[in-house]
Amino acid sequence: MSENKSITVVSGTNRPESHTAVLARFVVDHLQKKGVEANLVDLLEIDRSMLSVEMYEEAGQSLEVKQIQDQSFVPQERFIFLAPEYNGSIPGVLKVFIDALSVRKYEASFFHKKACLIGVASGRAGNLRGLDHLSDILSYLGVIVFPEKLPVSRVFEFVEGGQLTDEEVRKTIAKLIDDFLEF
Ligand SMILES: Cc1cc2nc3c(=O)[nH]c(=O)nc-3n(C[C@H](O)[C@H](O)[C@H](O)COP(=O)(O)O)c2cc1C
Repeated sequence: MSENKSITVVSGTNRPESHTAVLARFVVDHLQKKGVEANLVDLLEIDRSMLSVEMYEEAGQSLEVKQIQDQSFVPQERFIFLAPEYNGSIPGVLKVFIDALSVRKYEASFFHKKACLIGVASGRAGNLRGLDHLSDILSYLGVIVFPEKLPVSRVFEFVEGGQLTDEEVRKTIAKLIDDFLEF
């Protein structure tokens, strides 16, 4: 079976004006410039109905999450997750999103697919610890996690006017993505 080449990029926070979203848009642009079909799932755009007492039943999954899952997870073989560091780990909303996806079509969404992880933080750790947490969660779901994980520390120094302006960081992320495409 030939691999579906389209890649879903997840911006793992719903914080407005997040730096993670800026980096996620850079990743999508980079993929598209290389001729790779890429789409962005920005958790900021996800309706709050994702979080409900019904979310743990297949029938209770929010319609929006269902649509995202069918369009951006089931057909894809590769994902790039960008996760900011919130209190030493990934944002709760990213875990809720993964939990929401997992109640329906979980194997078709995750099993034996590949994921690349990028951490984003204002501090010095670049969310490395959170990337390990995310890696464990994804591995539990059967995802094969790319061993190179990129922590982007002190992100506020590299972003200006909603753009990733630092040439070194642009090159480092671009190289990671290029390596992931070979994985
Ligand atoms: C609730 C919350 C907790 C945070 N905790 C940390 C932290 O533990 N370590 C850190 O370096 N930065 C922390 N930050 C700052 C984020 O790393 C910073 O906002 C960075 O820009 C990435 O997040 P963003 O995509 O929301 O902008 C926190 C931010 C929020 C909103």
